[in-house]
Amino acid sequence: MTLPHDYRIRLMQPSDHAAIIGICRVVYPHDVPYTAEELATHHALYPQGQFVAEHVPTGQPVGVHFTLRLRMAAYHVDDPWDVLTAQGTFADHDASGPTLYGADVFVSPDHQHHGLAHALTDATRGLVAAEQLWRMVGGSRLPGYAAVADVLPADEYVREVVAGTRIDPVLSAHLKDGWQVVKPIHGYLQHDLESANWAAVIQWVNPECPPPPEFVLR
Ligand SMILES: CC(C)(COP(=O)(O)OP(=O)(O)OC[C@H]1O[C@@H](n2cnc3c(N)ncnc32)[C@H](O)[C@@H]1OP(=O)(O)O)[C@@H](O)C(=O)NCCC(=O)NCCS
Repeated sequence: MTLPHDYRIRLMQPSDHAAIIGICRVVYPHDVPYTAEELATHHALYPQGQFVAEHVPTGQPVGVHFTLRLRMAAYHVDDPWDVLTAQGTFADHDASGPTLYGADVFVSPDHQHHGLAHALTDATRGLVAAEQLWRMVGGSRLPGYAAVADVLPADEYVREVVAGTRIDPVLSAHLKDGWQVVKPIHGYLQHDLESANWAAVIQWVNPECPPPPEFVLR
């Protein structure tokens, strides 16, 4: 998918912080937004993992993809976002971790449906390749799920979205971007009412890189 010519993907810089916090308030109205201090810490810990989509005519960031490196064997598959990000600080970033964890991806509603999430995900895939990592892992919200949660178990909902017989505003976009579902989990985010607090663990495995030694069967 080609990025429209008035956008570009680049790394986050301090002058982006205020705009990013503003977008965060809009896309996650029930959550406490990142602080400028947190964004500066993410940058200090792992600058090459903090991507923004810039609207070139205004120079403003309109979307982000924030990542850190983890050794997932130290976690459980159903660990919540707070645990995987050390309460949003990214202090658990492990410079030798073989997995790139996609902690967040969001795009300002005014700029959605232009392929920005796709381009941001391609940028993170480029980082996985450049750092010769095994895979990317993330947690996809399921904002279409709460509306049907009374009548449909979460695993069935996710199966239908994967099969393409049901559309979820977030998971369907991630699937188009090349992610695969590992499993649905409950309690990934704390205030995600639209998803009835469910999410899908998703991953993209780098075909160029073997799994780390602890996953090789002998
Ligand atoms: C999920 C989210 C990041 C997607 O961002 P986005 O930039 O709109 O994503 P894309 O444009 O790459 O893809 C979205 C859709 O637009 C379509 N699209 C892409 N480029 C397009 C174009 N030029 N014209 C029209 N449609 C286009 C894609 O095919 C995709 O279709 P789908 O929704 O039917 O799957 C965004 O909706 C968002 O920020 N949501 C709120 C925060 C959130 O929940 N983040 C996810 C956390 S897990």
